[in-house]
Amino acid sequence: LDCNIGFIGLGVMGANLTLNLADHGYRVACFDLDQSKVDAIVAKDADERGDAEARITGCSSYTELLNKVKSPRLIILSVPAGDPVDNVCQHLIDAGVHADDIVVDTGNSLWTDSVAREEKYKSKFIFFTTAVSGGEVGARFGPSLMPSGNPYAWTRIEPVLKAIAAKVDPETGKPLESLIPGKPVLDGEPCATYIGPNGAGHYVKMVHNGIEYADMQLICETYQAMRTALHMAPAEIAEVFRRWNEGKLNSYLIEISAEVLEQMDPETSQPLVDVILDQAGQKGTGLWTAVSALQVGSPAQTITSAVFARSLSSLKDERVQASKILKGPNAPVLSDEQKLAAVNKLEQALYCSKICAYAQGFQLMSLAAKEHGWDLQFGDIAKIWRAGCIIRAEFLQSIARAYENNESLPNLLMDPFFADQITQYQLDWRESISQASLAGIPCPAMMSALSYYDSYRTAVLPANLLQGQRDYFGAHTYQRVDKPASKRFHLEWSDPARPQVAIKR
Ligand code: 6PG
Repeated sequence: LDCNIGFIGLGVMGANLTLNLADHGYRVACFDLDQSKVDAIVAKDADERGDAEARITGCSSYTELLNKVKSPRLIILSVPAGDPVDNVCQHLIDAGVHADDIVVDTGNSLWTDSVAREEKYKSKFIFFTTAVSGGEVGARFGPSLMPSGNPYAWTRIEPVLKAIAAKVDPETGKPLESLIPGKPVLDGEPCATYIGPNGAGHYVKMVHNGIEYADMQLICETYQAMRTALHMAPAEIAEVFRRWNEGKLNSYLIEISAEVLEQMDPETSQPLVDVILDQAGQKGTGLWTAVSALQVGSPAQTITSAVFARSLSSLKDERVQASKILKGPNAPVLSDEQKLAAVNKLEQALYCSKICAYAQGFQLMSLAAKEHGWDLQFGDIAKIWRAGCIIRAEFLQSIARAYENNESLPNLLMDPFFADQITQYQLDWRESISQASLAGIPCPAMMSALSYYDSYRTAVLPANLLQGQRDYFGAHTYQRVDKPASKRFHLEWSDPARPQVAIKR
């Protein structure tokens, strides 16, 4: 069997991407160090294709895989980020990969590793990356893809990636979905676009995940407000999320949150959410986004708050101890009418906070692009996030439109549509946060979003006092509002004769 593509790594994502490729007519040779995974995918192919010809062929070594794929080869990797990527690359070199073969890393690699790998392997093969979002179902039926690297390699793999990507109706921005094996969606706009030179695709995926962290945390905070302050049961909150999912908050994350809240625990017949330990895991992409935001100097406090919220959740034992000692207010008892009003306000609060989280993510990409010389197309990035990925939502259509209307938009908040939305809903946002605060309910991401909004729209921040402090203790100098910014000033603070406001003490 002469295969079009070699696939290495048949974990959940790899196996599903392989089946997705097969659905689009590609013959795939695949390999995994765990032979049982190779056997499983070959069996699954036999099961799904019925009497048709085999689409997937299993290999038991790197050499066999290279022998089965037509040259110049296209080899896709789906292995854990970090050392495993380099291990596989080295095995491919040892097995005789050619200089014009393309090796595509689809894992959640750190973007700087991708930059280094392109350089490291340039005489051995063409190293290319395609970050993938969408989890198991996305990989199987259409993920969102963020390819980056050598532009020549992109021309070779573009048809493959556009075929397997999620598709949207270009007019409405709504996903065109088929969850039937062997019957993929063939029309619509693919959620795959060339992002830029190597590193750029993984950077954009990293920010996608940072936004994902913020989006998830914001939903969790509204859940907690309803649960603790409004004393609502998980199933009631699921109902609210389902209602919100019909409106401007429509998104995959809202939809799955409702599903999680409706789930009963098969063992105890309690709501499952009540038996899940409140300690969040993380694999690193949110942390990388936060670190990058700090390094680039891009304010992304809602994203970083979401990362810190996961860290704080992990201090379970300490929190349990603290809950017995540290006092807060009691949540006031509300009438049904007040509860309903509070729920409606929370919807607007979540929406305004979400706008800020996305504004931060896009602002971060924009500052990073300037720093690294990438020509990121934000409208296109928003478009490929409309379907397939974890943060998919109708909302992304409005973001795409904002950048289409003004491709050098400095911040999403400055787009007339989003500016107007926040103007319209901000009172509810402020009231929700005030009420949560008075009831002692934490909402760190939501509060940080509001502070971001208020800081961004404030012409004069107290950084003037801060510069005064810095100059006082460290002679760090300051600029003046009435002199060119290039000029630095210092005051002799220890001079007893310096002019001071006369204050009676
Ligand atoms: C996606 C997801 C995916 C993965 C995250 C989870 O876009 O498909 O983001 O990449 O599920 O890495 O991240 P945490 O384990 O850090 O929550």
